[in-house]
Amino acid sequence: MIFEEGTGIVRTRMSSRIPGFYRLGVGERRRQVAAAAGLPADAFDALDSGGLDQAAADGMIENVVGRYALPLGVALNFRIDDVDYLVPMVIEEPSVVAAASNAAKMVRAGGGFRAEVSRPIMIGQVQLCDVADPDGALAAIAAAEPLILARARAVVPGMVARGGGPTGVEARVLSRPGQPDGGMVVVHLLIDCCDAMGANIVNSVAESVAALLAQLTGARVGLRILSNLSVHRMVTVRAEVPHAALADDEQSGAAAADAVVGASRFAELDPYRAATHNKGIMNGVDAVLLATGNDWRGAEAGAHAFAAQGGTYRPLATWRRSPTGLTGELRMLAASSARDLAKVAAAAGLASNLAALRALAGCGIQRGHMALHARLVARAAGATGELVERVASEIAALGDVKPARAREILTRLRVELDAGPVSLVIE
Ligand code: MEV
Repeated sequence: MIFEEGTGIVRTRMSSRIPGFYRLGVGERRRQVAAAAGLPADAFDALDSGGLDQAAADGMIENVVGRYALPLGVALNFRIDDVDYLVPMVIEEPSVVAAASNAAKMVRAGGGFRAEVSRPIMIGQVQLCDVADPDGALAAIAAAEPLILARARAVVPGMVARGGGPTGVEARVLSRPGQPDGGMVVVHLLIDCCDAMGANIVNSVAESVAALLAQLTGARVGLRILSNLSVHRMVTVRAEVPHAALADDEQSGAAAADAVVGASRFAELDPYRAATHNKGIMNGVDAVLLATGNDWRGAEAGAHAFAAQGGTYRPLATWRRSPTGLTGELRMLAASSARDLAKVAAAAGLASNLAALRALAGCGIQRGHMALHARLVARAAGATGELVERVASEIAALGDVKPARAREILTRLRVELDAGPVSLVIE
């Protein structure tokens, strides 16, 4: 059982399958997750104050007047490269955690997710303006690459000692003299950030070599900043889902697989659909990044820029038939620092996508939403423990998901419970 310090990601040598987890109270869920992760029993106590005290909040940003809380859940059933993970997710939208857990269970039946993470190479951009001879500037930069790299490496000796640091220089002409923007060249400094997110390192390197670049090209320095379109820092996750795991009461596994492929093709052919398809993926990715304190805006910016890179906005994940079921692939920028976190965030994205497509191409998503809504209504009516599930399933079955009906059923169930033993079946 491993709690990966600094990432918030919980790897567990125990199974990430915990049947009936959603039916437990918060305290029991905490106990089970702590036990699976080898954490002390009081590990989650800090969350009771939102995990952040007022003084710390005041030191983080400006003009603080309070703190803002969101639910933190744990997605189950994730197996990535033969390791089980309990996946923390922070999100305000009901059903995302349950859907990701369900889809991870389907993928688990096919052996789990497989992930590849590239070298963590980030891009620092230097904008050169008023370039009189852009082609000459590219040639001068190419000829001086060893000198530029030596200067850049001197800025981050610790990272170079760890096997990372600046590795390459690229330049492109953006505009030529006589055009409205005048001569403009952009230089990319490619930097291996090891296990760091890298923003400060990349910005420092870009700022420190800008003057040299201006001197080499006779240009005026413009911006010096990292690019969130970090195409050299990628993660790819793949999933195989067998027919049996896709089948339900209404659809055979083969029909469900065909339907998911049809949904994938829709997103591949239509940017309007691709936007929503990718939103569903980011439901999973962002929830993991938020739960682990990472920069989800950077991931969002990068994901959509990458999706549009070919000139048309495309889906980040696609699904195809395989002889035994379905095979899916998600390629996205690995915006986060640690390799494990990149894998887990991407797997959560692919799982969220599979869950959405499976539901949309089957009975639709409203039924699942209504089941979760029914639980919320049952809780609001005062149900606790196992009664939440019983009240929720009754109001859902009646199609009357309203507080008044929930209260009425709750009163009846409490009377029944007082009257004698009732066997409650917990999976
Ligand atoms: C809702 O948050 C996400 C979905 O719209 C994703 C999709 O349509 O693929 C269900």
